[in-house]
Amino acid sequence: MEEKAAKIRIDELRETLRENSRRYYVDNAPTMSDYDFDQLMHELERLEAEFPQFDAPDSPTHRVGSDLDAPVGANAESGARQGFVQRAHRYPMLSLGNTYSIGEIEEFAARADKALDGIPFTYSCELKFDGTAICLTYRDGKLVQALTRGDGVQGDDVTDNVRRIASIPQQLKGDFPKEFEIRGEILMPYAAFDALNREREAQEEAPFANPRNAASGSLKLTDPEEVAHRGLICTLYHIPAESIQFDSHSQALDAAASWGLPVSTDRRLCADIAQIKEYIDHWDTARKFLPYATDGIVVKINELACQRMLGYTAKSPRWAVAYKFKAEEACTELLSIDYQVGRTGAVTPVANLAPVQLSGTVVKRATLNNADQMALLDIRVGDWVFVEKGGEIIPKITGIDPAHRPADAAQPVFPDKCPDCGTPLVKAEAEAKWFCPNQDGCPMQIKGRLLHFVSRKAMDILAGEMTVDQFYETGLARTPADLYDLTKYQLLSLEGWQDRAAERFLESLEASKQVPFERVLYALGIRYVGETTAKVLARHFGDIDTLAAATLDQLREVADVGEITARAIVAYFENPAHREQIERLRAAGLRFDGAGQDAALSDVLAGKTIVISGNFSISRERMKDLIVAHGGKAGSSVSGATAFLLAGTKPGPEKLRKCEKLGIPVVSEGEFRAMLPDLPEAGAPAPESAQPSGANIEEPTLF
Ligand code: IVH
Repeated sequence: MEEKAAKIRIDELRETLRENSRRYYVDNAPTMSDYDFDQLMHELERLEAEFPQFDAPDSPTHRVGSDLDAPVGANAESGARQGFVQRAHRYPMLSLGNTYSIGEIEEFAARADKALDGIPFTYSCELKFDGTAICLTYRDGKLVQALTRGDGVQGDDVTDNVRRIASIPQQLKGDFPKEFEIRGEILMPYAAFDALNREREAQEEAPFANPRNAASGSLKLTDPEEVAHRGLICTLYHIPAESIQFDSHSQALDAAASWGLPVSTDRRLCADIAQIKEYIDHWDTARKFLPYATDGIVVKINELACQRMLGYTAKSPRWAVAYKFKAEEACTELLSIDYQVGRTGAVTPVANLAPVQLSGTVVKRATLNNADQMALLDIRVGDWVFVEKGGEIIPKITGIDPAHRPADAAQPVFPDKCPDCGTPLVKAEAEAKWFCPNQDGCPMQIKGRLLHFVSRKAMDILAGEMTVDQFYETGLARTPADLYDLTKYQLLSLEGWQDRAAERFLESLEASKQVPFERVLYALGIRYVGETTAKVLARHFGDIDTLAAATLDQLREVADVGEITARAIVAYFENPAHREQIERLRAAGLRFDGAGQDAALSDVLAGKTIVISGNFSISRERMKDLIVAHGGKAGSSVSGATAFLLAGTKPGPEKLRKCEKLGIPVVSEGEFRAMLPDLPEAGAPAPESAQPSGANIEEPTLF
């Protein structure tokens, strides 16, 4: 590869890896599979080795991913991550070098052999638990501190929460050292995860993508009482050698078990590669029957003297390596392919599959990414295909089974025209995707942008796919600014709309004028500007005019904004149609300056944790914002620490029962609003039948 091309690719990889690392560790909402992430990381490592002139100390290859408390993340819960105290780790918490091939485990063993130069050693093989890392400190047998991994150097102090995890003893027994640290993983077993997601879905809250995210989200809740109800468990696997006097890792863990600590019993001491392979083969299948998630195995050199000799790189120990299992796969028939046009004009081929079970869910659709991917797979309609879960939620097709190909299997033809508006598709050289260039005329793009604008994480306006379709078809609203010109009279002229629904829609439109600048910026739908980047930009530039005037160089200076994003931002503001939209939205009263959360309205709810349940005159998200704006905290389950249950129409019966049992007051929306200073009392929420079917608050989803 040429130097120039290498530099571009390195920048691109760093940007992608940083963004995905943030989604994984901070937002708890990954969009890329671990496997794909690791492949990109390896590609970056290779390029940096080949072009050392571009290596940089802050490259993701030299840094441990960070979960440190950050501005509210995408999958954060209400009551989550609001300022934990950060404390330095006594010994850095590193990650592990990982691989998907036995060959690399053999290389690891060979390197250790060579470095230890004839000193005999053994391997401790263990499960790689897929949760969130924790570091516990015990002094005089008492649990005194629990820190998350954080950025590896300092972590969030979550001691109060960890005290609520039943399997972690507060007091040790037996002959324990005066003071020591022990590390491990906090896990949410599948059963607790399913129950939690069922409850979240019933409450219209976004479900967690996987048990790992649920565990780390739960550990960052601000109400320890709620943590107690999440069913978290813990398994411990590492005592930093500096803090104890043992000869081997396995002895240290056996001792820890005798002090009452939860240490995995599924460890095995192996003498050689053959035994390591046996262990891997066994657990590749056996792990499917465990009640919690594991994503591989860890091989550690067992003798602590040998560990000390091997030492550490900046990122991981040289005495351990992780072998990761490949994600679970299923095989099924490809029935047909749809070509979907997204809001950016990108055309994505989507496979319709014969329904198949995969990691606990039924999969019917899967993404094929782009035309290159289809060609690479040489895929035909009628083929038997392998499906894997990508970012754990959206499945993807990873291969075909040529042995099963029917004789008449048809080769799909990627369209050369937009499947929606017929405009010839274009492809920029550097892009893998084909695009419909008809930005202002392609219905799918126009509707896609509107849907994005109204979505919950953006402006949170009460309109779903059907409503947006109606607005588009009737020509009432085709751009975000058009929404703010809609009148009640116009809405009532639409099929299925009644008085109350129109009012609720207009109320949500009015409420959207208070949405903070960072979310308005996200709602504009600038390419590559996701929620996190929007937050960073809002904080950095302060208002839209300063952002619009920023040069490429000024944009590149912003942490984590790379070349591609910077160019997309400049291009966005160069377009006069976009400038006009912004002016109209500004005139409508939207916030185009001021970073951060809604300004505090009062502190009448200070110190109160309020749980909400049922439907209200505004969306549940807005209701939670209102609680926070008046100094309160929004909790997600009723406990002794709950001040009151704010109940709308159809509150959850389980929550009501719990309130009765614990003697917790139940407050209606009207009573609640009466507690707040200077706010008009809202009318009774509309019965469900009064809503037009399209006026739902769900975001559009592909699958
Ligand atoms: S040992 C110095 N053992 O995997 C590294 N880690 O990808 C000590 N993990 O940060 C870690 N199971 O959070 C170790 N049996 C195990 C593990 C394990 C899961 C996690 C841990 C680590 C990450 C690295």
